[in-house]
Amino acid sequence: MQEPDLSVEIAGFKMKNPLMLASGILGISIASLRKVFEAGAGAVITKSIGYKARVGYDNPTLVEVHGGYLNAIGLSNPGVKEFYDELSNSKIDDLPLVVSLFGAKPSEFKEMVSILDELNIRAYELNLSCPHVKGFGIEVGQDPKAIREVVKSTKEETKKPLFVKLSPNVSDIVKIAKVAENSGADALTIMNTVRAMSIDIETFRPILANKIGGLSGPVIKPIAVRCVYEVSRSVRIPIIGCGGITSWQDAIEFFLAGARAVQIGTAIAYEGLNVFEKIKKGIRDYLIMKEKESVRDIVGLSHGF
Ligand SMILES: Cc1cc2nc3c(=O)[nH]c(=O)nc-3n(C[C@H](O)[C@H](O)[C@H](O)COP(=O)(O)O)c2cc1C
Repeated sequence: MQEPDLSVEIAGFKMKNPLMLASGILGISIASLRKVFEAGAGAVITKSIGYKARVGYDNPTLVEVHGGYLNAIGLSNPGVKEFYDELSNSKIDDLPLVVSLFGAKPSEFKEMVSILDELNIRAYELNLSCPHVKGFGIEVGQDPKAIREVVKSTKEETKKPLFVKLSPNVSDIVKIAKVAENSGADALTIMNTVRAMSIDIETFRPILANKIGGLSGPVIKPIAVRCVYEVSRSVRIPIIGCGGITSWQDAIEFFLAGARAVQIGTAIAYEGLNVFEKIKKGIRDYLIMKEKESVRDIVGLSHGF
């Protein structure tokens, strides 16, 4: 049988394979993002960048829990102007780079895109879903009016694809997804972390300095699969699945649920960067076993039942 085709296209953004580095996992330095690309990722996403620099929260900001990690980093970042300088001093033309943005209001998203748009960035991912920073992520991501304003005003500023990253911490993710689609989102990333908490029983204190954080890793995968499945039956734009993927079997599950591509985050802490080649090989072998010519042929196959 012929070698299966792993390439995918998301709103005009072509990737050699459907595996992306999730936002926030390896920062914003182009050198480290390039390492992930060289390790086999089809695309890499930066940590979320905001309009102004933010220091983030005090330590501890990250703790391992059963089946995953709990984090509340606090959207620490150097601000868009410094990030622009980092990008313009780096070689990015051959890098399938997606920039993740967060903001407190539509004008901040618009302003960031107007600064960055001349660079060879392939797409933007709007982080409307950080579960633990007041006034930024989820407070925007669960308000249909705010989503509409952010997506529409960002869209006016760029012709590049806009991915909108959604949160599972809402009562009806399908409703929010439709608002994003109707406002002009070109694709949806599903999902960000799950709002969660951990307490030290010796000292009685919440473990994270911020008390509440976002849960990631294998423990959240069934939630993410459910969200992808429900949303993909209700929207026409492509979905990028994210949440707890550590093996090729996990990735396949997301494709069958309706994702066209997938992002990998926490798995890097368990498996290192080899995880991309391992998952790619597993997907290839599965497609051969199932006699499918392309990874695109298995997207949404669970919907028929
Ligand atoms: C330490 C850490 C930092 C993160 N930072 C961001 C971020 O800056 N922007 C964002 O959209 N998501 C961020 N995320 C969420 C991930 O991109 C991803 O949506 C989530 O971790 C679920 O995927 P995973 O289980 O494969 O890690 C972060 C996750 C972790 C663990």
